Amino acid sequence: MKLLSSLLFVSVFSILSNLAQEQLIQNVYLRESTSLNGMWKYIVDPYENGFYNYRLEPFEKQEKPQKSAFFKNAKQEDKTELLEYNFDKSDSISIPSDWNSQKENLFYYEGTVWFKKSFNYNIKKENNRVFVHFGASNYETDVYFNGEKLGKHIGGFTPFNYEITHLLQKKDNFLVVKVDNKRKKEGVPTLNTDWWNYGGITRDVKLIETSSTFINDYFIQLNKNDRNTINGKIQLNGSDISSKEIQIKIPELKINKKIKTDKNGVTTFKISSKKIKYWSNKNPHLYEVFLKINDDIIKDKIGFRTIKTSGSSILLNDEKIYLKGISIHEESPFRGGRGYTKKDSKKLLTWAKELGCNYVRLAHYPHNEHMVRLADEMGILVWEENPVYWTISWKNKETYNNAKNQLAEVISRDKNRASVIIWSMANETPTSNARNAFLTSLAEFTKKEDPTRLISAALEQSDYKNSKTIRTINDDFADIVDVLSFNQYIGWYDGLPEKTEKISWKITQNKPVLISEFGAGAKKGFYADKNTRWSEEFQEEVYVKTLKMLDKIDQLQGLSPWILVDFKSPRRVLPEIQDGYNRKGLISEKGEKKKAFFVLQKFYNSKD
Ligand code: GCU
Repeated sequence: MKLLSSLLFVSVFSILSNLAQEQLIQNVYLRESTSLNGMWKYIVDPYENGFYNYRLEPFEKQEKPQKSAFFKNAKQEDKTELLEYNFDKSDSISIPSDWNSQKENLFYYEGTVWFKKSFNYNIKKENNRVFVHFGASNYETDVYFNGEKLGKHIGGFTPFNYEITHLLQKKDNFLVVKVDNKRKKEGVPTLNTDWWNYGGITRDVKLIETSSTFINDYFIQLNKNDRNTINGKIQLNGSDISSKEIQIKIPELKINKKIKTDKNGVTTFKISSKKIKYWSNKNPHLYEVFLKINDDIIKDKIGFRTIKTSGSSILLNDEKIYLKGISIHEESPFRGGRGYTKKDSKKLLTWAKELGCNYVRLAHYPHNEHMVRLADEMGILVWEENPVYWTISWKNKETYNNAKNQLAEVISRDKNRASVIIWSMANETPTSNARNAFLTSLAEFTKKEDPTRLISAALEQSDYKNSKTIRTINDDFADIVDVLSFNQYIGWYDGLPEKTEKISWKITQNKPVLISEFGAGAKKGFYADKNTRWSEEFQEEVYVKTLKMLDKIDQLQGLSPWILVDFKSPRRVLPEIQDGYNRKGLISEKGEKKKAFFVLQKFYNSKD
């Protein structure tokens, strides 16, 4: 009997912990919130001693969690108590930020770190509710509040939140977070990546206070097929959500509409206006949108535009646009490590503007929300990417669900951002039936979640038939994407720069083509002739010759060369040149522009 009851308990628990993923609260940055950023206590736990007993059985799946599980706020009150950890006597670390760039002894650390934040909280109004919201935490995160498990989140680059109302106390609340950044074969991404595996609570942590019934989510966008109509969907959260009146106001368009929710607390609407100023890179017009229920008003700033393809053209508001882009990793240009501040994002996007860009590829995972909100304001179009990178475990159902969940979370977070025009399903994934099925399912899911944007993926190129001088895209997934994108490194990984003069491209798909990557490495300040690898002149020559080669592709509608800034990677260890950095940046990690920067800038400035 005992075995059956414990199995039952475990199964119920594991279902509950999966259910613990609550619906994402939309637009946290413009809501009433309390920041939990600052100094947190931390304990490094490489053997996960705070989570498993000596037989590697999780404490929390046992009937009575034992005290030595770290999610207790151990205080050593009882002199006889056996406690082998104490948060309050442990060191502190600044949150958000990755531990690798903050603590020298954690530079290469991949494993578990426990974090604890204590705080008092006075709820502002009776019957209000309180949620804890994480901008991101890499990679597996278990969250406990006042000794109770709130849930587990998997994925290092998307937000998640949990309600804490039922556990909140006025004084001495303690939030304990277990973060494990170990790479896993079945993970998303998997074991092998060309970027630093920054671990920790890497983005803002906020307490969001709401009314008992509140507007949890909304999607307000221009109708893809009628530019004079704004479509909207609003979702309430709470116990009293049916037949509730919601007011939508867009003052600049003199829109003021009241609608009622259905029994599920959902309402959809269409608003017509012939006066809409469409959002574009040249005129990034954002409308103030107010959503009101009872006394609560949420404000957002939303741009209205359409993005489509027609044959080999990309149409922004029905006008052809050429995407003058650059790829970007999420590293702080000021202090290294994971970028997460508005200042980090502003610097990176300002460099992109200086380069002549109207577009950025946020590689290879969703960046922080400041990036897309600033892109909205600065008129920069955005490719966002799910970290389905290289050799994912295509046949593993959990891996697929993980990839789908991360995609769902970034779509949920950014679906109201006009700047986001492309959802990328993957990067450089080897073709196979299992991979095609995996990516096609993700694409179908994305189209359902968000029919207003384009689907792509960074594919790989190959020889056309058996030709040694003609390249093509021979990939079944090319039939699924709206925009055909691929990476190519002729002149760096594939021959020398002059090889670009011998290669032509045969793209058989009648779709817009974006070159999602090309580039070459150069150590800033290393000057030599253009045939000397790692010199700025070599990188410059690769850009000059590659741009000439690619510009001949008829369907070419844009580029996002690899990459704006040198970035850290454990794969790049050449002494005196790489020293742990991938050197394909057009700008060094110290913010110094290389010669190739000005080649690309000139090319973009020559394009209207
Ligand atoms: C690949 C990959 C990048 C990598 C780059 C490189 O195309 O997509 O993540 O950093 O090449 O080798 O520098």
